[in-house]
Amino acid sequence: PLVTTKELLLKAQEGHYAVGAFNVENMEMVQAVVAAAEELNAPVIMQTTPSTLKYADADYFYANVKTAAQKAKVPVVMHLDHGNSFDLAMKAYRAGYTSIMIDGSHELFDENIRLTKSVVDACHAAGVPVEAELGKVGGKEDDLEGGEGNPYTVPSEAVEFVNATDVDSLAVAIGTAHGVYKGIPKLDVERLSEIREVVSIPLVLHGTSGVPDEAVKDCISRGICKVNYATDLRIAFTKGVKEYMEKNPDAFDPKKYNSAGREEVKQYVMSKIKVCGSVDKA
Ligand code: 13P
Ligand code: ZN
Ligand code: NA
Repeated sequence: PLVTTKELLLKAQEGHYAVGAFNVENMEMVQAVVAAAEELNAPVIMQTTPSTLKYADADYFYANVKTAAQKAKVPVVMHLDHGNSFDLAMKAYRAGYTSIMIDGSHELFDENIRLTKSVVDACHAAGVPVEAELGKVGGKEDDLEGGEGNPYTVPSEAVEFVNATDVDSLAVAIGTAHGVYKGIPKLDVERLSEIREVVSIPLVLHGTSGVPDEAVKDCISRGICKVNYATDLRIAFTKGVKEYMEKNPDAFDPKKYNSAGREEVKQYVMSKIKVCGSVDKA
């Protein structure tokens, strides 16, 4: 069934595991993520960025995810990833999304609070939970720039931010970056533990493609309840399609090569659900 992130993340927080959140770009990726979650009896979150919603709008993705969720035994969430305006947040909300991120991390602290609070007020009226970001995750998320410097989340500011906005979960900046890393990322896990000590809501890790599995598990043990993977799903899908086309250069049926992409994504998502510790938590 289609559910919100509210209970899913609170349950994960209580059980000291995380729910995997996977960015989807087409119907095949939606099918792959749900198939992986079903096979491992795991709750799962699917999410789309603003640029994905330029490719096909929120109604298309919502229809795909809802269809998959209705057939599934496991709980499935449709989440807006890095919503960059009040209007886009409301567009996803009206389309039926069951979880919304408003990313005001590029704004000054007070403006981030104001923007986040406006989305929280609108969404909470209908029981839709909201994720926000404080500090800046590095790198580039689709065509959204990560910005210069990428300041890390300050624990005392996180407390003030959460109290002022009533947000349901918080994305923290501790050294991860969107996209492919050059080398191995160095994470400030002490900072994560400090944030966890003073903030009670579920914390979210962004930029997880390329973070070693052991580092992700460490972050989960320190309070991360939602783990975002995007780039590696795109890479997996493309790998499947490319390998199929190399073996079958005359292929012209999208069903054939997209099936190969779908299978690669499913295998990748299954491996990351295991890293999250959410197997059999449905
Ligand atoms: P990656 O593309 O590095 O996996 O980051 C995903 C993410 O944070 C989506 O919001
Ligand atoms: Zn992100
Ligand atoms: Na990354």
